[in-house]
Formats: sequence, structure tokens, C-alpha cells
Amino acid sequence: MGCLAMRSLSRLPFALLLGLSLVGFTAHAAKARAQAVPQEKDAKKKGKLKVAVPADDAVLRIEGKDTKASGKERTFDVPALDPAKKYEYKLTVEWRPNNYTILTRNKTVVFAGGEEVTADLTIEDPADKAVIRYVPTPDDITAKMIELAKITPNDIVFEPGCGDSRIVIAAVKAGAKKGVGIDLEAERITESKANIKAAKLDDKIEARLGDALDIKDFDQATVVFLYMGNEFNLLIRPTLWKQLKVGTRIVSHRFVMGDWKPDATKAIKGEDGEEYEIHLWTITDEVKKKAEKK
Ligand SMILES: C[S@@+](CC[C@H](N)C(=O)[O-])C[C@H]1O[C@@H](n2cnc3c(N)ncnc32)[C@H](O)[C@@H]1O
Repeated sequence: MGCLAMRSLSRLPFALLLGLSLVGFTAHAAKARAQAVPQEKDAKKKGKLKVAVPADDAVLRIEGKDTKASGKERTFDVPALDPAKKYEYKLTVEWRPNNYTILTRNKTVVFAGGEEVTADLTIEDPADKAVIRYVPTPDDITAKMIELAKITPNDIVFEPGCGDSRIVIAAVKAGAKKGVGIDLEAERITESKANIKAAKLDDKIEARLGDALDIKDFDQATVVFLYMGNEFNLLIRPTLWKQLKVGTRIVSHRFVMGDWKPDATKAIKGEDGEEYEIHLWTITDEVKKKAEKK
């Protein structure tokens, strides 16, 4: 168990020091939310903070500082605080469901002095964030994805997590009228811009630095390409359902969309001898209705 011990009340509503084995944690935590009725010092009460996390080795941060406990259930002592006041901690958990995905989830817990408070960070949250490692799609598999999408001159292609924009460039070369690639890494966007320039497609392709989970103009797209991860696809799925127009095609290299079954899946033997799978979905009225209900 970790100990969240009082350090100083002089400069902040309170500042906490994480003791025992959890050396080095200082949290500028818990803004007092309500004005306290004046209390005797000894009326303050010790509390407990119990946190459930999605994985044994998940990194848990309290007020931005790493804690050192491990396991799926973690308990911290909260120092003696005023039971008449409300305090809050911002909790962040970061974990790796596989070797190419980092997921992050935030939660704020509010409690009064002396309370035992439980925070369940195992529950999926639409605000979860994901970072996926860069692995490019081989050119021959890119060509098959373009084929599966059946690109036409009316298409506007979006690619969340575009890497060096090879798929967007191939789609525009295959006839799409416009392309937008979005990547979290500045280096990928620099490479994308150089590749787009080399292909003389600056007037048709935009390479945008940003988080794919924050895209607001998917309604422009008629085709979406993805090579991200099953976890990422589940996170972006509600946004795709809400924003994409009926008829928009989604083509994903390898990864699926949970219980949303693809219209087509193609198994491909790559030129490198590896086995690949690509999947196609189409946005329908039913999908849009489902999104409205959520
Ligand atoms: C597996 S690579 C795929 C690259 C490219 N789509 C391809 O198939 O060649 C994943 C890409 O997504 C980017 N990425 C990871 N997390 C992201 C996020 N949350 N928003 C936008 N891009 C992200 C990475 O920087 C990387 O370029």
C-alpha cells in the first residue's frame, strides 16, 4: 500500500507526498472545492484511495506524478484532511495492450477528508487516447487496399495515422480527387510533405499534424484507410459512425472493428512472403442509426 502523506499546507490547499515505497511522488493535488467551516486541527480524518487499473504493469499517475505500485488493485493512504471540504485528484493510467499500442485514460476523483474513495480506471471511456507505433504498409499491400476501396475520381480519402502518406498518395494517383493524412508524429508529417511534393500532389493532398481521435471533418471523406490496431479502431469507431456519410468505405490493413463485421476480408500473400489481411466496411443507414442511439 502507498501512503499519500501531508507535506505542506502553507502554499497550496494541500500538497501531498507519496511515502513508503513510492518515493519521489509529490502531488499538487486536490483543490478544495468548498469553503470549510472552521475545524479543530484534530477533527481532520485519514482516508483511503483505492484504484483499479486495466493491467498489472499499468503506470498510474496521480496529479501527473508516477506512482510505483503495481497490480490491478492499488491502495493509497490519504492524509488527515478536513471532512467538511471536498478535494480532488486527477488520475491517469497508461498501459500497453500489445507492443505497438499505448493507451491512456484519465479520471478525476472527488472526496471529502476521511473518506474511502474508489476509482475504477478499467472502464472504457470515449475520451481514452491511443498512440500506435509506426510500421509502414508494404507497397504491394497498399495497392491491394486501393483496389479493395474501388477508388473513383469523386473520392476524398482520409487516413488517420498516415505515416509517410504512402496510402493517401497511392489513392490520389489511382484517381481520388483529394487526400488528407493525419499523424501524431511531426517526423511523419515532414516525410509525408516531402513525399507529396516529390509526387507533385501538393494541391491535392494535405498532411496534417494531430491526433486522429480528434478529427472533426470526417464528413468530407468518402474513403478512410486505417492501419492502426484493434484497440484504436474501437476507439475511433463511434466517430466514424457519427461523422462519415452513408456509402463511405473504410479499408483497414489487418485490424478489425470489434463486433462490426466487415463486408469483405481479403487474405493476401505479400511479395515479402508474409500473409496479410485487409478488410472493407461501408457506412450504412443502420450504422448511422446505431450511432445516433449511442
Ligand atoms: C502502424 S503505422 C501506419 C502508417 C501508415 N498508415 C501505413 O500504413 O503505412 C501507425 C501510424 O499512426 C501514427 N499514430 C499513432 N497514434 C496516432 C494518433 N493517436 N493519431 C494520429 N496518428 C497516430 C503513428 O505515428 C504512425 O505513423
